[in-house]
Amino acid sequence: MNDLVGHRRKTLAKVVGEYFSGLQEPYSRLLGWEQDVSNGRLFQEAEAAFEATMSINNVGDPWTTISSEPIHTKPFERALVQFFARAYHDDPDAIWGCTTPGGSYSNLQALLVARDRLQDNVLGFYSEAAHHSVPKAFHTLGIRTCLLGADAGGVMRLDQMAAMLRQHPEARPVVVATAGTTLQGGIDDMVGLRALLEAHGQPFHLHCDAAFFGGYLFLLEDHVPGMNFACFDSLAISGHKFFGLPIPISVFCLRKEDQIVLGDRLCITEGACDVTLSGSRDGHTPLLWWYLVRRKGRAGLRQALGQAMASRDSLSAALKERGYEVLPHDPRSLLVPVAGLPRDFMRRWGLPEARLRGREVTRLTVMPHVDEAMAARFLDELDAAVLARVSCCC
Ligand SMILES: Cc1ncc(COP(=O)(O)O)c(C=O)c1O
Repeated sequence: MNDLVGHRRKTLAKVVGEYFSGLQEPYSRLLGWEQDVSNGRLFQEAEAAFEATMSINNVGDPWTTISSEPIHTKPFERALVQFFARAYHDDPDAIWGCTTPGGSYSNLQALLVARDRLQDNVLGFYSEAAHHSVPKAFHTLGIRTCLLGADAGGVMRLDQMAAMLRQHPEARPVVVATAGTTLQGGIDDMVGLRALLEAHGQPFHLHCDAAFFGGYLFLLEDHVPGMNFACFDSLAISGHKFFGLPIPISVFCLRKEDQIVLGDRLCITEGACDVTLSGSRDGHTPLLWWYLVRRKGRAGLRQALGQAMASRDSLSAALKERGYEVLPHDPRSLLVPVAGLPRDFMRRWGLPEARLRGREVTRLTVMPHVDEAMAARFLDELDAAVLARVSCCC
């Protein structure tokens, strides 16, 4: 389109409309992406209650508001942070937090805080199953790292961690543990990690990247041992994954006493410090997220989780029945790693093509929106794809 002149509303509506109708088909097959899409009506309901077109900026620290920046939604952002602080700490008032543009960004902010707290001899640790944003953040911050292996379920190898710590007795470790590794849904052993780090005898920082599973692990009756601030020092949870926020967002939390000041002055206002990396921050999406958790409550979220787990179990059983290999995974995971699905079928369903120990694998991401109808369509199309291959070879 010619961008030198303004366009008619109708023309633009047509362009946008056509683009969005092209998205409907992949939207109806969302089984490979960590994003729930079952909350659309609830977000519409929330947007009806506020001015979605109002320009809002939650600039700087959500816990300080300055008179020159009156258009914000910080009270909702704070309430949201407290919701997660309560979920993962006995005393939510001990926790500081803010929303960030996504889990990757929260990981970066966590490692920045860790590096500045520890100062010297900082050595980063992460496992091969960690999300790519983790080595990216270490690299961005110029932190030397040790890469650790993961076991068959995608869980960090603590024996390798112990060996590395012995080799580097002076190192001050910054460790990224994952609660829900991206491919296999492994949950690292936070209790074991903390014990190793304490025995090492140097100051350390243990960050928990819980981008996906952090959205629901606190809802389980059987709590995951160590999945709380008694074990880790900071936490990242994404909002667009389990909660399905329409715009990427994350919550980043740490103990108040561990907070560092990243900028000594906020905007032109004396006395207000910035403690966020991004500075200007989204004010709409924290409000939607707050609305969602308040409207559903833990009971509603638990119900959504139950629905997702039931779909996961039936899909997993149906794949096994058809002879596909479902790889080892944590029983609390909503990810079903599987080998042997036809590649063209995987592409049609937007399933990631990954390699694990030399094998081609993928994983289903069974979110609350995956209902019986979607699961049946998936399996019917899988059967049809296999049949088509067989008849084409005969
Ligand atoms: C374990 C893990 N950490 C971090 C991320 C990145 O999160 P975001 O998409 O919010 O940047 C992902 C995304 O897939 C993830 O699975």
